[in-house]
Amino acid sequence: MSRIEEALEKAARMRVESPSEVIAKKTVPKVHLPPPMTTAGITVTNRLLVTVNDPHTQAAEEYSKLKSVIVKMTKEGSFLNMLMVTSSVGGEGKSLTSLNLALSLAQEFDHTVLLVDADIRKPSIHSYLGIDNSVGLTDCLLDGVDVKDALIRTGIGKLSVLPAGRSAPNPAEVFTSRRMRDFLLEMKNRYHDRYIIIDTPPVLPFAETRSLSAIVDGIVLVAKEGLVTLHNIEETLQCIKGPPMLGIVYNEAATEFKHDLYKYCREGYA
Ligand SMILES: Nc1ncnc2c1ncn2[C@@H]1O[C@H](COP(=O)(O)OP(=O)(O)OP(=O)(O)O)[C@@H](O)[C@H]1O
Ligand SMILES: [Mg+2]
Repeated sequence: MSRIEEALEKAARMRVESPSEVIAKKTVPKVHLPPPMTTAGITVTNRLLVTVNDPHTQAAEEYSKLKSVIVKMTKEGSFLNMLMVTSSVGGEGKSLTSLNLALSLAQEFDHTVLLVDADIRKPSIHSYLGIDNSVGLTDCLLDGVDVKDALIRTGIGKLSVLPAGRSAPNPAEVFTSRRMRDFLLEMKNRYHDRYIIIDTPPVLPFAETRSLSAIVDGIVLVAKEGLVTLHNIEETLQCIKGPPMLGIVYNEAATEFKHDLYKYCREGYA
């Protein structure tokens, strides 16, 4: 058994003992770019989407393991189907992690998945997938557009995407609104077997992800090697206490396992 697998098993055991602890830890290495691939629906040209483009790389394998652990954790009791992916600061890999997790879920487990781009300050899901962003989440929330008219079916498994949509003058207000809460809960309850993966802004610079953490069922925290500090992570964990911290993705890692970060996060969150 590899060190990563041992660590995951240990983390899973800890989850049973204390649900509020960080229970999964994945290390995603730097992606080496494969050639693009066309699917039946949209054409995936971004080569960082390795779960579609190059599923045999180490990075794709790590996303697949992350997916398996998340499926196991979210189906242990009542189905925790609404998950947000976030990070402490910008540029740590939230959007790519959301996308690769959603793609992996949609493809291998044949799960119905809705990926929501809730980073309305800096939307990027549409550009990674090469899809339209003219109608999306903000249009549903602020202009009453029917979600059916905003969803994009990708043709990749049962993955649909709700792009961010038009810009909003005050994103923090949008997130604290009753309408946002009602909208997400309606999405959550509409299909009981559907995962909703929400890409968010970083926690420390903006208020909205903290509001969102009060609504979701679980959190995946992305930590980019060499960018985020332990102090940043400590602050982040304090800000988003509430739903279970399902796991930490240690992203763009040159090393396979960074024990001090893992240990710190477990103890810091307990
Ligand atoms: N595992 C990885 N391998 C290689 N490059 C990566 C990886 N993860 C992220 N990157 C690089 O970092 C960039 C930012 O990633 P991403 O858009 O997922 O971050 P983000 O946290 O969503 O950023 P923002 O806070 O701006 O929304 C990517 O475009 C890519 O160049
Ligand atoms: Mg992003």
